[in-house]
Amino acid sequence: MCGIVAYIGNRNCKDILIGGLKRLEYRGYDSAGIAIMVSKCLKKGSSPDISIEVVKEAGKIKEMEGQAKEVKVDGKCGIGHTRWATHGEPTKINAHPHRDCSGKIAVIHNGIIENFEELKSELKASGHRFISDTDTEVLPHLLEKYYDGDLLLAMQRLMGKIKGSGAIVAMSTDSPGEIVGARITSPLIAGVSRDGNFLASDMPAVLEHTRNFIVINDFETVRLTANKVEIFDKEGKLINREPFKANWSIKNAEKSGYEDFMLKEIFEQPYGVKESMRGRLTNGQLHFDELGLDSEQIKDLKKVQIIACGTSYHAALIGKQVIEKWAKIPVEVDFSSEYRYRDPLVGEGYLFVAITQSGETIDTLAAIREARSRGAKVMAITNVVGSTVARESDSVIYTHAGPEIGVCATKTFTSQIIIMYLMGLYFGKIRGGLGIEDYGKIIDELHMIPNKIQNILNRADELKEIARHTFKHKCFLFLGRIFGLPAALEGALKLKEISYIHAEGYPAGEMKHGPIALTDTRTVVVGIMPEDSVYDKILSNIQEVKARKATIFSIISEGDGSSKKYADYLFEMPRTIEELYGILSIIPLQLYSYYIAKNLGKDVDQPRNLAKSVTVE
Ligand code: G6P
Repeated sequence: MCGIVAYIGNRNCKDILIGGLKRLEYRGYDSAGIAIMVSKCLKKGSSPDISIEVVKEAGKIKEMEGQAKEVKVDGKCGIGHTRWATHGEPTKINAHPHRDCSGKIAVIHNGIIENFEELKSELKASGHRFISDTDTEVLPHLLEKYYDGDLLLAMQRLMGKIKGSGAIVAMSTDSPGEIVGARITSPLIAGVSRDGNFLASDMPAVLEHTRNFIVINDFETVRLTANKVEIFDKEGKLINREPFKANWSIKNAEKSGYEDFMLKEIFEQPYGVKESMRGRLTNGQLHFDELGLDSEQIKDLKKVQIIACGTSYHAALIGKQVIEKWAKIPVEVDFSSEYRYRDPLVGEGYLFVAITQSGETIDTLAAIREARSRGAKVMAITNVVGSTVARESDSVIYTHAGPEIGVCATKTFTSQIIIMYLMGLYFGKIRGGLGIEDYGKIIDELHMIPNKIQNILNRADELKEIARHTFKHKCFLFLGRIFGLPAALEGALKLKEISYIHAEGYPAGEMKHGPIALTDTRTVVVGIMPEDSVYDKILSNIQEVKARKATIFSIISEGDGSSKKYADYLFEMPRTIEELYGILSIIPLQLYSYYIAKNLGKDVDQPRNLAKSVTVE
């Protein structure tokens, strides 16, 4: 939540900052701003007059960009921010950067200062003047208070004073050749290049300028000059940390001819799932050393506890089913935000797994910390190398789906599901829960999944057409059973996120205990009903809603003739085994939600009120 970018070097920074913010817009988009250090020589021979010019505006980055075009702000050192409001409405005055009383210091921040009320009162009592409703505004005033010639030292003092979370970046006209930053929980990385150095919340912000990055860890501070990046530990001691080379390229972070990132990312799924399997599933053999578990430890597993939020939670629900079915290990799935408040049990032989595409979700991070404090070994499944969750876990499985820019998760979800399948298979083989024949059959089917996803994508127009006929409905019910249930939950979530239509995902058998009351001519019921072991059951459930005059859209297995007479609309999926319908059936639902939202004229990449990585509780 909130995106940060900063640059210092030998190039004009306005376009670098605005370009970087646009690539970070998925992190928040209710207001944006930049601050640029400007040096003017008023008289020949006199020393330059240095000031900070701030341009900010409520709304999306393009609003601020319009303002920035009007103002002549050229300089080679600057900071920028795109906001997802926590304290204070999304207005121009609350937009970052914020300044101190003198206007010499400018600060951007991602996170929450929990003790800001107290700090604000103290600062006000000593004469500091505040103009916004934000928690962030205490930061420039604290820096003003602590500054005595060294901005980094002032930042380090400030760190000792604040409670909460934050990636903080500041600059001052009194220290014009540097930008300083600090990190408590919220992500912050430094980008290193010959033309200058960067700070950012996430790599895509500066991928077009560099692929060399250094992760700033919690409680560290950083000083950036045009040709140096210096990192300091909590005690203020200089740390030597070499940059790593990111294997993401700028192409991954561009729309490449697609109308939206979401559509591009949906279409990237055949490639994404192949990447998730690459090196792990080769020639019918599974290699999973990254799990960090030997055969004996796997045989001794008594329970798997998975935690996740949002879409990742739905991947966990598929993981539960396959690990229980194939490996015969009990699996518990919890929302990260619930887990740590329910006095959870962590015992001998428990495996704790956290699924998070961003690796930054604060609730997931907090749950990991809680589990580790109770003695659990934590395995993370994430898409972002070097993310906080990756760094705080005992082992990491990277999904390798490539950067996902659209706010709602699509390709990272199917990659997470692949990892769940591979884990279930690997555990199942070692524990003897799966016969050789079943094992071989599942592997063969997994190899065919990318092509089957492609087959569905090739028929996207069929879903576009169904969306065109149904988008005006006010209520959508997604029903599924067993492996169709996580898909139903995810289908409803996708639709809510990007079209703002009321949608519910429900176990089809539970429908009679409530949701059937919602059903009338205004309702669309989406049935996820492949020909699996519960097919007959869901077919009856669909007839029940059909009798109540709902419009029925059934997602079925290719060639299934029995469902046709109950459906108003149909989409046929290629056939696969029961378990793998869990991944296949989500693809038509992603496309269907996408086309409904487009019919309604919604911004699918940046839906209202949401953010890609939720770094506040
Ligand atoms: C946000 C995103 C969702 C995502 C959820 C969990 O709400 O908008 O797309 O599923 O966070 O994110 P994580 O990074 O932990 O998977």
